[in-house]
Amino acid sequence: MGARLETKVFEDADALATAVADEFTALTEGLTHAPFTVALSGGSTPKKLYELLVNEPYRDRVRWKDVEFFFGDERSVPPDHPDSNYGMAKRALLDHVPSKAHRMAAEQDDVKTYARLLSERITERRDGIPVFDLVLLGMGDDGHTASLFPGTAALAEGRRWVVMNDVPQLHTRRMTLTYPVLNAADRVWALIAGAGKRAVVAECLAKAADPGDPPARPILGVRPTAGELVWFLDAAAAGSPAS
Ligand code: 6PG
Repeated sequence: MGARLETKVFEDADALATAVADEFTALTEGLTHAPFTVALSGGSTPKKLYELLVNEPYRDRVRWKDVEFFFGDERSVPPDHPDSNYGMAKRALLDHVPSKAHRMAAEQDDVKTYARLLSERITERRDGIPVFDLVLLGMGDDGHTASLFPGTAALAEGRRWVVMNDVPQLHTRRMTLTYPVLNAADRVWALIAGAGKRAVVAECLAKAADPGDPPARPILGVRPTAGELVWFLDAAAAGSPAS
């Protein structure tokens, strides 16, 4: 078992995104090294965060040139496709800031290039694995995170850092970081909002100490070995008022 799971509950998705924007900005203001490496997530809750960050009061406070962005997962579509995680992040965030960013070429199944990129750009290692300063995740209402979906092969990957994962329930395959990389990170923040997530959040919190192997709810396999783990929830997802 890795890090303790800390939960923070906010009134709604806007308050959640604002709290994450505040914490992200404070982290970059206190940077003692560069690049500060961040894996971005797809999904509607992270999108709110990206849109906030490119506006005041955050825009001029974040040390964008010291931040380097990567992705936690990508759909098998080109970057200009409406479903592309990179495309969403580009429009909401990357087009507006001077940070370096590296998309996953999932439509070409090109895991090797991404693994090489992680190896070259992220120099810190934990048990031989690149250490992200921050991984942002979302969670689907089936408990998937990144593109680690229930019952899929990537959940059992213990060696490779990046894989293509067949997702039969969506009739597709996606590129995703694996548990070894996610769990080597210094910080993992999961952004989870909306009443549709409430049942699975409750189930996950009840099973957090004994999630199964592989976990039926893939987000429960994300337990950084030495880093922090925070779930940012809104009241609707938490089923409890803001704390
Ligand atoms: C993706 C994501 C995925 C997402 C969740 C939650 O490519 O779909 O990376 O893991 O974060 O599905 O999405 P919402 O925030 O939109 O519910």
